[in-house]
Amino acid sequence: MAGESDWQHALLRDLGTDAPSRPVLEQSAGATGPESAAPAPPPDHEPAAPAAPPVPRQSHSANLPGPVPQSVPAIDPRLLIALGGPQHGDSLTRRAGAGLRRLASSSGQEVAEQTRLAREVQQPVTTGRVIAVTSIRGGVGKSTVSALLGRTFNHYRHDPVLALEADAALGSLPTRLGAEAVRWSCADIAQILTPAMQLTDVTGYLVPVADGGWLLPASHGRVGAPLDMRTYRTVTLALRRYFGVTVVDCESLPGEVARTAMDTAHVRIVVAPMTAEGVHATRQVLDWLAQLPHAALETTVVVLNTQSADASLDPEVAAGHLRLPGVPVVQLPYDRHLAQGGPIHTDRLSRGAREAAVQLAAEAMRRAVSVR
Ligand SMILES: Nc1ncnc2c1ncn2[C@@H]1O[C@H](COP(=O)(O)OP(=O)(O)OP(=O)(O)O)[C@@H](O)[C@H]1O
Ligand SMILES: [Mg+2]
Repeated sequence: MAGESDWQHALLRDLGTDAPSRPVLEQSAGATGPESAAPAPPPDHEPAAPAAPPVPRQSHSANLPGPVPQSVPAIDPRLLIALGGPQHGDSLTRRAGAGLRRLASSSGQEVAEQTRLAREVQQPVTTGRVIAVTSIRGGVGKSTVSALLGRTFNHYRHDPVLALEADAALGSLPTRLGAEAVRWSCADIAQILTPAMQLTDVTGYLVPVADGGWLLPASHGRVGAPLDMRTYRTVTLALRRYFGVTVVDCESLPGEVARTAMDTAHVRIVVAPMTAEGVHATRQVLDWLAQLPHAALETTVVVLNTQSADASLDPEVAAGHLRLPGVPVVQLPYDRHLAQGGPIHTDRLSRGAREAAVQLAAEAMRRAVSVR
């Protein structure tokens, strides 16, 4: 696997270090770009000091046909204030109960399972892997699942991770990832990218995510031209060179970009809401995937997402309806913090949501490394 490790070390070197920690992942959120990037830190700065934002080596935005986009807030800050403080995903009673159960039970098996899942998530890749998240309906948790996945990959992996929004309908991915502002969109990047660009050039056009990793929004935060299939293909193909894992938050099926993403991704994640009609419709999507020529089901994972505390559908029956041969169904439980909307704070997630995110990342990565 020497080649794989060389590839990843080359990327880390390009970012200014090849230390096995995540050097670029501790920066504050906010839109960047060649014009707004701060100067690079001196080479011998304190090891504990936070890394400065990367500096693109030259401005490539001259390739843009229109004016250079301005930085705009990802969400009106007044709404974030109105949202109140982040609540914990689990209620206090639940947390106390879980604590007592942990004390009473032997945790050896649990630790072994967590270690196994972490190893799966950390598997090296020879070329960048693209994981597309979609659903047959809107509002069922695609952006939430994409944000959870992006954060999980960042937490466990050492290579750069990108969260790409392929939903121009003013999607919520930037907000879910805690981005303060957005600037460059997929369509801009498609015009700017050239094969000669280094990772540091590219990241100058991306939003650094507070917990680590990078975000490329689909739009400038206002209603505009929808993302088209060609732009999507250009951007994902070009960015795969720089990122070990790209998580794509797609529009809903059967949109053109969503179909392209499902067709071209290494792994497909289909989010199903925990409702009878949602599970029924998602089953139709799986049947469609089963007919695609390149065994798409083998690289598909289903997320059964409970968005309401009042959901009454039997989870076992729902999961059984979606469980086709080789297709795992990961259950994402109802989580009060996720229900709140707004930025996801990993430390506020319920235990169930955290475990589901790691399980999903492991299932996705296992499939991602199995395909060319
Ligand atoms: N596991 C969960 N527990 C509680 N609430 C959830 C959960 N998952 C999602 N939600 C709620 O559902 C809302 C919609 O989720 P999200 O924005 O991720 O859906 P989406 O499929 O991306 O929507 P769109 O089609 O508009 O892009 C979230 O704002 C949140 O309130
Ligand atoms: Mg969304």
